[in-house]
Amino acid sequence: MELTLEKPSFAEIAADVLIIGIFQDESAADVIKQYDPKFPAEFLEEIDDLCKLENFKGKSKETISIFTQKKIPARRLLIAGLGKRSDFSAASVRKLTATFSRQFSSKQAYPYPALFLRYEGKGELIQASIEGWILGAYTFTFYKTQKDNGTEPGDKTKKLSLVDQTIDDNAFARACARGKAIAEATTFSRDLIAEPACNMTPSKLASVADSLSGNLVTCEILEAEQAAKLGMGAFLGVAQGSQEAPKFIAAKYSHPESKRFFALIGKGVTFDSGGLSLKTAVGMETMKYDMTGAAVVLGVIKALQEMQVPISVLAVIAACENMPSGNATKPGDILVAMNGKTIEVNNTDAEGRLTLADALCYVCQQKPEAIIDIATLTGAVITALGRAAAGIMGNNEQLMSKIVASGKNAGEKFWPLPMFDEYKDSLKSDVADLKNAGARGEAGTSSAAMFLKEFVDGIPWAHLDVAGTAWMDKDKEELNKGGTAFGVRALCYYLLSEIDKDNEA
Ligand code: BES
Ligand code: MN
Ligand code: ZN
Repeated sequence: MELTLEKPSFAEIAADVLIIGIFQDESAADVIKQYDPKFPAEFLEEIDDLCKLENFKGKSKETISIFTQKKIPARRLLIAGLGKRSDFSAASVRKLTATFSRQFSSKQAYPYPALFLRYEGKGELIQASIEGWILGAYTFTFYKTQKDNGTEPGDKTKKLSLVDQTIDDNAFARACARGKAIAEATTFSRDLIAEPACNMTPSKLASVADSLSGNLVTCEILEAEQAAKLGMGAFLGVAQGSQEAPKFIAAKYSHPESKRFFALIGKGVTFDSGGLSLKTAVGMETMKYDMTGAAVVLGVIKALQEMQVPISVLAVIAACENMPSGNATKPGDILVAMNGKTIEVNNTDAEGRLTLADALCYVCQQKPEAIIDIATLTGAVITALGRAAAGIMGNNEQLMSKIVASGKNAGEKFWPLPMFDEYKDSLKSDVADLKNAGARGEAGTSSAAMFLKEFVDGIPWAHLDVAGTAWMDKDKEELNKGGTAFGVRALCYYLLSEIDKDNEA
């Protein structure tokens, strides 16, 4: 998709659809005239009449569609309400473009849209618009033998114009590069999640990670024997019930000018049946998405590489399946993690934290300045926050608040949940240092975080529980039905904000 900048001489933009944003209580005709004094006067009058007739107020989600009948080169004009000017933000414009994109991009008749959404020189709004456009068009139809309308699936947009008067060329180029890289990394992650567990095995995940290797990315894959030598008994305890070989994946992006080093950990349970503490049929129906964290951290590495960000980021995935079998870990078994702590497995369905425990020990040895793990860890976070926000916990308020702020700009909400010492009591074991599952129905998300904390040796750490936000039952704005790859955007925004801050200083 080609991205171009146009100036608002609306009467010169030959788009298939020109979308013009109007704030609440503005007159569309006045706005058009203000930005383009040469706009055909008669047509302007018609637009004004139509807006009055339809009682158009510029509220968000309000639209008026006009066929231009060659009065201007754009074939269709869409007057779009932006809501209150004070509520207008990167997050709101992203939702808007995603909604329009879903509507237009699947149709062959609109390969060239142009967006005039009141950017006023702000690169972050242009970036968000591009992200929304790409994300809203996402579909996964690989396994459909009959495509809709008999046409090829997905985004038909060939060229997208962003219309603004004031942005300079450098800022525009940067907004385009970032928006495109971040959105395409997200769709890459979504594809990995959408792939069924029979194909997206730990080995496949490892080969996907390996395929990211290049100039700035190196990838190391540890086999079960090597993981055993490092003492990863918690991770291997989860893996042992499955026919699929576990893979411990460490992909490192490292730019030559990097002065900062972060670690990301993604939960990579490619299928979670619950193990011997078996889930219900409904409970495991969508459990191919239990590798969302893994897909997300690989997406972030891909985006960093695409944008050539001057930073170092280690992405680690302890990839395995959680299956019941004659070899599976049994409730009551005791596992030894890489840091020597012993864990009584009272519930084999609390497997994610076991895999993350060894991944945390491993990255702590590399001494990053901060660790962020992202995991579909608990059903309890869905009870607490629904699908509106992911839970965030950790040992460092500053790190957590930066991620919350980045998530806000990125359009991904994170909400802090507590880590009170009381929650650790429920992880006390009679026979080992701790057990893996706390009391049912009692602060499940927080107690999982308390478990993870036992494997972080003092390095600033944030834990993102995305079990709720990682899967949607229907398309909504920039999120799609199915695996959403929630977290790619927030993590990219966070890492970029750290580097941008250094560059400004
Ligand atoms: N992968 C699940 C968490 C999950 C549940 C993600 C629903 C998405 C939707 C995780 O491994 C799990 O099973 N957690 C248990 C923990 C419990 C046994 C302490 C849970 O949440 O029920
Ligand atoms: Mn589980
Ligand atoms: Zn799980």
